[in-house]
Amino acid sequence: MATIPAQRYDIKDPRLAADGRRMVEWAAQEMPVLAQIRERFEKEKPLKGQRLSACLHVTTETANLAITLKAGGADIVLCASNPLSTADPAAASLVVDHGISVFAIKGEDSETYYRHISSALDHRPTITMDDGADLVAGLHKDRTELAAGIVGGTEETTTGVIRLQSMAKQKLLRFPIIAVNEAQTKHFFDNRYGTGQSTIDGIIRATNVLLAGKVFVVCGYGWCGRGLAMRARGMGAHVIVTEVDPVRALEAVMDGYRVMPLTDAAREGDIFVTVTGDINVVDEAQLKAMKSGAILANSGHFNDEINLNVLDGMAESVRTIRTSLEEYRLRDGRRLYLLAEGRLVNLAAAEGHPAAVMDMSFANQALSAEYLVKHGSSLERKVYPVPGDIDREIARLKLAAMDIRIDTLSEEQARYLGGWESGTR
Ligand code: ADE
Repeated sequence: MATIPAQRYDIKDPRLAADGRRMVEWAAQEMPVLAQIRERFEKEKPLKGQRLSACLHVTTETANLAITLKAGGADIVLCASNPLSTADPAAASLVVDHGISVFAIKGEDSETYYRHISSALDHRPTITMDDGADLVAGLHKDRTELAAGIVGGTEETTTGVIRLQSMAKQKLLRFPIIAVNEAQTKHFFDNRYGTGQSTIDGIIRATNVLLAGKVFVVCGYGWCGRGLAMRARGMGAHVIVTEVDPVRALEAVMDGYRVMPLTDAAREGDIFVTVTGDINVVDEAQLKAMKSGAILANSGHFNDEINLNVLDGMAESVRTIRTSLEEYRLRDGRRLYLLAEGRLVNLAAAEGHPAAVMDMSFANQALSAEYLVKHGSSLERKVYPVPGDIDREIARLKLAAMDIRIDTLSEEQARYLGGWESGTR
């Protein structure tokens, strides 16, 4: 048991550590790639001397990442990247069993959330690790003096990458960022299969409704939307996709879904899930058109996708039906049901993506942190993709861990692909 001064953490209850330890170990069984990295990190200590401030969903999977980074020599402080996504037992285990400073409590209010981010910044990081860019944005707003000591940062999610790219475009970004989300071994799996499964999991845990036969509206057909639509169809729902991008809309059509404007879908849908990364996707016009009994959830990063101000304004009364499920009685007599306060339903009402996909996402995080230590000083103040070698190596390790072998190109085939001379025979 590690001892750690009380002022260096703020968690729900250290006595949850025993539960947390078992849960973190359970997740580790599905994270063989991260385990291999951890073994090497233990020997090589590539992060020695680095102070790492991480703002991530504090889950059992994140606990395994934090343990890996510590094994690599990093002095790590962790805070939550969403007020509702913390697994309190995992946070307790990190503090008690691993001596890692954690500032995260499930259900913390907005003020505490930002105070916890501030505590993570008090660590004076040399590396930042973010999920949604609240840590880096906070640093750029209020703590700019810290930027000089930072070699670089990593960003986990689509929304964060978009925010950071906007900062870079405006020439405001003060250190390089590696966009972990852009790795193929991240978004092909985490965004698609992770969000697909965990969002359905959150909806079912919050409501226990039958999905078979329901009209399930997926707003946004990015990687998350694709995964969610696929899994909702797999459960027997009739899926409608809404999009603003014509190419994605066309893809959804050819994937076999009905596609229409959300205002039209609003009249038909039983369950609506936003996964767009934009604001007020479900707005007044759509809320007015919905059937009584419709269920609303968001699985995008921020709780801005459903216009909650409008929903509140339409409501005569609101009552909690069960955990993560609130009933809005509207003045016109209809009832709408909001899950997890409009926050990401997969983490707030369930446990986030399963460990098997977070294995690859967090392998990208660990190896990108190592890359920043080696190469950060030669990078510009831009958003960079994860180097292709890292991405391919993670895929190789994952396949090997799954005991799946693949073919290799013969010399002749490799030569052929590198040439242009041979054409139609
Ligand atoms: N984002 C989505 N699922 C997650 C998980 N299980 N752990 C950390 N971040 C996540």
